Amino acid sequence: MHRRSRLKKPTWIISLVSLVCVFLVVAYIYPPQDSTACYIFSSSSCRMISRWRPPPERELSEEETTARVVIKNLLNTPSIQTKNPKIAFMFLSPGSLAFERLWDRFFQGHEGRFSIHIYASKVKPVHHSRYFQNCEIRSDKVDWGKTSMIDVKKRLLANALKDPDNQHFVLLSDSCVPLRSFEFVYSYLMYTDISFIDSFEDPGPHGSGRYSDHMLPEVEKRFFRKGAQWFTMKRQHAIVVMADSLYYTKFRDYCRPGMDGRNCYADEHYLPTFFHMFDPTGIANWSVTHVDWSERKWYPKSYGLKGLSLQLIKNITSITESVHETSNAKGNHDHALHVERYKQALLLICKKILARNFGHHD
Ligand SMILES: *[C@@H]1O[C@H](CO)[C@@H](O)[C@H](O)[C@H]1NC(C)=O
Ligand SMILES: *[C@@H]1O[C@H](CO)[C@@H](O)[C@H](O)[C@H]1NC(C)=O
Repeated sequence: MHRRSRLKKPTWIISLVSLVCVFLVVAYIYPPQDSTACYIFSSSSCRMISRWRPPPERELSEEETTARVVIKNLLNTPSIQTKNPKIAFMFLSPGSLAFERLWDRFFQGHEGRFSIHIYASKVKPVHHSRYFQNCEIRSDKVDWGKTSMIDVKKRLLANALKDPDNQHFVLLSDSCVPLRSFEFVYSYLMYTDISFIDSFEDPGPHGSGRYSDHMLPEVEKRFFRKGAQWFTMKRQHAIVVMADSLYYTKFRDYCRPGMDGRNCYADEHYLPTFFHMFDPTGIANWSVTHVDWSERKWYPKSYGLKGLSLQLIKNITSITESVHETSNAKGNHDHALHVERYKQALLLICKKILARNFGHHD
């Protein structure tokens, strides 16, 4: 009796020790997920264990889940091909279009392959070209000047989407001039399955510095992007923009001048950020519009009659390199240039659309 129990004791201890080891190994691999498990461990080891755990996936609100499902499904739906695909040219203008005659030449002979939509914010335009007659999308003066720039773009898109033949949508202003022939622009946009939306990361004060934490949790700072306001968009993306109200509302409410002491402009951040989040490979990350920021002023270089020549147009047309200027200053006004090289065809020259033409700041 005595001898047997003495023999058994070490075995008993070994199995107890190994049981404890197994328990600890299991606890290491499967850390406790709920608070009851924490009572078994001391609170400090619980804290330690919770440090090992990867950060939990953020739980989406019902609204966000719905928004994401809709966006994802729209992006996965192949576009419907129509027999007569058209390009929608959407003009944003305070009044009459200065270059209407030039655009008339551009469109001549291509009837049936384009549609024109005009949003005139201040005065009803006077037209010189038959293509531009009756293209204004609204005439109710009541809310002129009250709508934000993004709202105006959404209205233009909605109006152009009514025509099922419209497959690509080009945003223009009264100061835009085509650099290429209609044939070139048509083929370029129609046979590329992406949208030309400018989008890049600017870590400086005029980029990520404009971000506000109020946009959380839906829009995280790491996704915040910047881009020129000009775009051309394929039909699918135009529909996605129409469908989004959640992310749009975040930018409308929290990306505006004076927000938390910063001047944020939704017009320069909403689309670049939105598409970077949901379809980064579906956009070019650059715009087909020529902009020259080399003077490093608040507004890009504008071209007047002086210095305008065929050679200048040829020079601009042959630009194949895009420059994204970031605002992380090295000196006082010395901006870092972030140069991306890619094959780029420029289709348009446009001056920046000034918010003041629309009686508000966006
Ligand atoms: C645009 O940039 C994103 C990353 O921000 C990248 O994944 C995507 O491939 C780029 N698009 C093109 C057409 O290069
Ligand atoms: C066009 O480009 C050439 C070569 O870069 C340059 O020498 C010329 O001054 C430019 N002309 C105009 C009008 O910009």
